[in-house]
Amino acid sequence: MSRRTASPPSSHRASKAKGRGGFKRRQTPKHRSSRALAHALLMDVLEKGRSLSASRDRHLDKNIEPRERALAQELAFGTLRHLSRLDAWLSQLVPQRPRKRDGDLRTLVLIGLYQLAFTRIPAHAAVASTVDLAQEIGKPWAAGFINAALRRFVREGESIRRRDLAPHIRLDHPPWLLERLREDWPLEWESIAHANLARAPMTLRINRRFDGRDRIIDDLEKAGIPARVTRRSAVGIVLESPHPVEDLPGFAQGRLSVQDEAAQLALGLLDIDHICAKSGERMQILDACAAPGGKAAHLLESDAQGTIDLLALDIGDMRIRELDATLTRLGLKARTRCADARRPDEWWDRKPFDRIIVDAPCSGSGVIRRHPDIKWLRRADDIEAMARLQNEILQALWPLLKPGGRLLYATCSVLSAENDAVIRRFIEHRDDAKVLPIEAPWGRATEKGRQILTGEDDMDGFFYSTLTKA
Ligand SMILES: C[S@@+](CC[C@H](N)C(=O)[O-])C[C@H]1O[C@@H](n2cnc3c(N)ncnc32)[C@H](O)[C@@H]1O
Repeated sequence: MSRRTASPPSSHRASKAKGRGGFKRRQTPKHRSSRALAHALLMDVLEKGRSLSASRDRHLDKNIEPRERALAQELAFGTLRHLSRLDAWLSQLVPQRPRKRDGDLRTLVLIGLYQLAFTRIPAHAAVASTVDLAQEIGKPWAAGFINAALRRFVREGESIRRRDLAPHIRLDHPPWLLERLREDWPLEWESIAHANLARAPMTLRINRRFDGRDRIIDDLEKAGIPARVTRRSAVGIVLESPHPVEDLPGFAQGRLSVQDEAAQLALGLLDIDHICAKSGERMQILDACAAPGGKAAHLLESDAQGTIDLLALDIGDMRIRELDATLTRLGLKARTRCADARRPDEWWDRKPFDRIIVDAPCSGSGVIRRHPDIKWLRRADDIEAMARLQNEILQALWPLLKPGGRLLYATCSVLSAENDAVIRRFIEHRDDAKVLPIEAPWGRATEKGRQILTGEDDMDGFFYSTLTKA
């Protein structure tokens, strides 16, 4: 995710943390309210261009009470989900913006408006807690402004909310993204935009090496966590409401993992059983963009006989650690390596692969409901840059595939520039590449693959294309 506006911490601030003589003074961590945590998350995204996940790792440590964490996330995610409308209401409430732009002030009012418009928090509590928040973050001068703006929204909110808004504001999307959705999906763009505003379900994948789904669902229900089976994946479970993953019975033992149902469908497209039965040898599989290891783990969980020899790459150092942690928790084995998929000369041992998975880096336009910050951090020209990267990865890996082998290309994007267009361009001058049609009861056929639109069967937006080599 792009980090455009990040500014390094000033040396002034860094030196203030030291006592006389340059020794670090011990500071007791200050308790921050949920709202202050939400404010910190939002400032990271809106002012510093950091991703919400990175910011969550920074601010929401394990010592924070689960309820406080949940409220902080609700406020930050909700505000980002509805940012355009909240901003539009703010400018109606305060037509004369303060002369000096102040990110803190905007964020504070947005948090207040979000509570008033989209939560059941009583209005008086939403106003009072936001005014207190100004004090807590060291901006007491903002209290009067916030109080006036929020009180006016309490009085006039209904009529303000009825006013006509441009479609991109009404649907809380940046104009360029809504335009692209409309171009690619003339009939579905509005339902995709609505799905992007919804909360995604918490979906799990069971580890087939342990128990069946019914047994796991029973165990979850006994622990007071109601769940049901997924519609399209044979190994998926959807929780009725989200639950801290570490507390799920069986999670630490590797019986289940968090993975959206759309991502669980990848395994069925690899046609593994077919080569298993045929060759009797260990099959060579490359997962070229593997971290944090969702698809790699699913693949290995399905390999009870140990017939798969998996090389899992990722370009990110930290990401490889996440991948290793996933495999360790699940007791699975693969060769993992931090490397650039575009440079096989640096890591390939010349043994061709039966299968290659390219779960490509992409805009994430299919997972906006899980990561609403994507809408505001991505820019229109990121999409073309992504498409170039996706094409470079495919070009570099194709020579590594055995004749008769299969390459699975996947993105969590709903934009054709990263999906059909990438595959079209890739096979254009390539006589040895053929697209295999994907027959499936889910998603819809596109020119070069199969697309799940966000929210269909309550899944993330995903694209799959399968290519075979002559
Ligand atoms: C969509 S994620 C992969 C998700 C993963 N397959 C899973 O199922 O959990 C894309 C990954 O590609 C990695 N990546 C980006 N550019 C890469 C490159 N040139 N070579 C290898 N990995 C790359 C990113 O670090 C990121 O972890």
